[in-house]
Amino acid sequence: MRVIQTLPELRQALQASGCAFVPTMGNLHEGHLSLVRQAGALSQPVVASIFVNRLQFAPHEDFDTYPRTFDRDCTLLREAGCDIVFAPPERELYPEPQGYTVQPPAGLADVLEGHFRPGFFNGVCTVVLKLFNAVQPAVAVFGKKDYQQLMVVRGMVRQLALPIRIEAGETCRADDGLALSSRNGYLSAAERAEAPALARTLREVAAHLHAGATDCAALEAQAMHTLAQRGWAPDYVAVRRQRDLGEPVPAEPLVVLAAARLGTTRLIDNLECMPMAG
Ligand code: PAF
Repeated sequence: MRVIQTLPELRQALQASGCAFVPTMGNLHEGHLSLVRQAGALSQPVVASIFVNRLQFAPHEDFDTYPRTFDRDCTLLREAGCDIVFAPPERELYPEPQGYTVQPPAGLADVLEGHFRPGFFNGVCTVVLKLFNAVQPAVAVFGKKDYQQLMVVRGMVRQLALPIRIEAGETCRADDGLALSSRNGYLSAAERAEAPALARTLREVAAHLHAGATDCAALEAQAMHTLAQRGWAPDYVAVRRQRDLGEPVPAEPLVVLAAARLGTTRLIDNLECMPMAG
């Protein structure tokens, strides 16, 4: 496995290679590694990027403290079948202030995560487009754990006519149901024990929908209340249609999404579920 830090070296290594690409911010866990293995089954060579993207962090967020575990990440990537790690220093990707950015559309990018993290999807799209331009992959794999991000990236690729196939990877979970996330490492032992309640809450909402419930606002409010009573500070629990994260309508597949803070750690999760009865 090669580690590459500069754009010219990357371009030389990859010339028209039709590679499979997994962008990451490092601090890798099994969720990332499953995306790398999925990428390897789709195309070769496999390229993963490690870059903590300042543009997608608000000033009060955890850019400075985001865990950077480069050597361990490289070992894990090598074992997972990655061929090239692109790990640019910040000045390689942002040699000057990034004045040109990708503005994803309101309605998709300013709801849910975009509402609570203004500018987040602008930062994500800008770096992803830049990484796509650098790596020029045939296919890129994004995890469903960041459901809205996957949808925003798919929209960008479609509307900007990028010749890249986007594939979705399933969310990896711990045995107790907690979705794997780099931010789980911030949890204290007591918080880690409580954290599976987020996934459990999503499963409960999905079960109510499956049993025929149609009052999504009531389900969302009940789920937020349950989390708050357990000591969480929920940003949202939302039932949306899978297609575009619009309001749920009968007979369309749904997804339940949630974001909530446990102590100082903000966790997100989601669960795809059956349509409401028509
Ligand atoms: O999902 C992530 O880790 C990041 O948002 C991404 C896609 C690597 C862009 O920085």
